Amino acid sequence: MQKNHLSDEQKRYFFNDGFIVIKNIVPRSYTKAAKALIEGVLPRDKRVLLVPRELATHPDILRLFNQTRLKKILETELGPFPEVISSQVAVTPALDAMGGRPSPHVDGSWSGAIPSSAADIEPVTGRPLDPAPYFGENDERRGSNDGQLWQDPDRTISLGSYSALVGIALNDQSVPGRGQFAVLKGMHETVEAAFRFQRDTGGVIGPEGPGWPRIKATEEGQTYLNGLPESVRARMHEKRKHSDPVEGWEWPELTPVLLQEGDAVIALHSCPHTATPNRGPEPRMNIYFRIRRLREENPHEGSRRLGHGVSDHLDRGYYGQFLEYPSTYNPWMTSIEKLCNHWAEWQGMQDFVAENSVAP
Ligand SMILES: [Fe+2]
Repeated sequence: MQKNHLSDEQKRYFFNDGFIVIKNIVPRSYTKAAKALIEGVLPRDKRVLLVPRELATHPDILRLFNQTRLKKILETELGPFPEVISSQVAVTPALDAMGGRPSPHVDGSWSGAIPSSAADIEPVTGRPLDPAPYFGENDERRGSNDGQLWQDPDRTISLGSYSALVGIALNDQSVPGRGQFAVLKGMHETVEAAFRFQRDTGGVIGPEGPGWPRIKATEEGQTYLNGLPESVRARMHEKRKHSDPVEGWEWPELTPVLLQEGDAVIALHSCPHTATPNRGPEPRMNIYFRIRRLREENPHEGSRRLGHGVSDHLDRGYYGQFLEYPSTYNPWMTSIEKLCNHWAEWQGMQDFVAENSVAP
């Protein structure tokens, strides 16, 4: 009989690496139907990528999670969560038609236009010296910043979060260089430590907080949105220097998650990840679901406004609306607690975590 939980060995990998691959968990009939659906809407010009929004909520896409053992495994190991009603359909065209480089990050931060000159960035927080053209006059509000610079109106937390990212492969990605989802293996603990440091120093949690400038510049002066705390970036550079090369893979700091059709990856929110270039002959097709354990005291859980399954900023509405909360429940403090203790809400991992954590 197929199990609806992780084995001890799987838990050990998940605990140590921050992610786990589950082989052959989605029936081939489901992956084939989802793939056909996507192929049916992809533009003929293979260089452009436009997946219509309706696909994200299509029953043939949602059942990849909702009607497979993935859902049951998460219910066992994580706990209850609101119904998944949407997804991210992530297609990377073949033959590196889109170009671009990997950009590892922790999910949940703002992505928008930034100043092009390093001279226009405040170095400690990484804010533009003149933020209004980029963030709007009030950067806690959705406006010209087009998104969620902050999770709360008081601007104490700049990062959205969830419990688990679940990715399902619809095509073969078993050879490096096929646009794999890639991770900074094992660095989830460094990310959690960075959140604790921010909390303990009383700073902003996330970009703009201590040790995490929002915008940085390369040595050549190219500005970029910085998806990683400085401590993680330092470890990543060390790893790049000391890792053995992998054939067909130029980024030794990144671990390519090798998946075949019907395989899935489950990653903690704190496990930094990135898409990578697809040099293979066929489009790379993954479907991602973002799952956050039910927060019983939150009156908005399950509301369609939140976009359960796709949203990485569940303390605001999916389109950035600030929600009303009762005085007895502080959604942002709750999220900060989970960011600073990322195993706390995984009910099935508690014994394992207690046995394997190193005392501080
Ligand atoms: Fe991401």
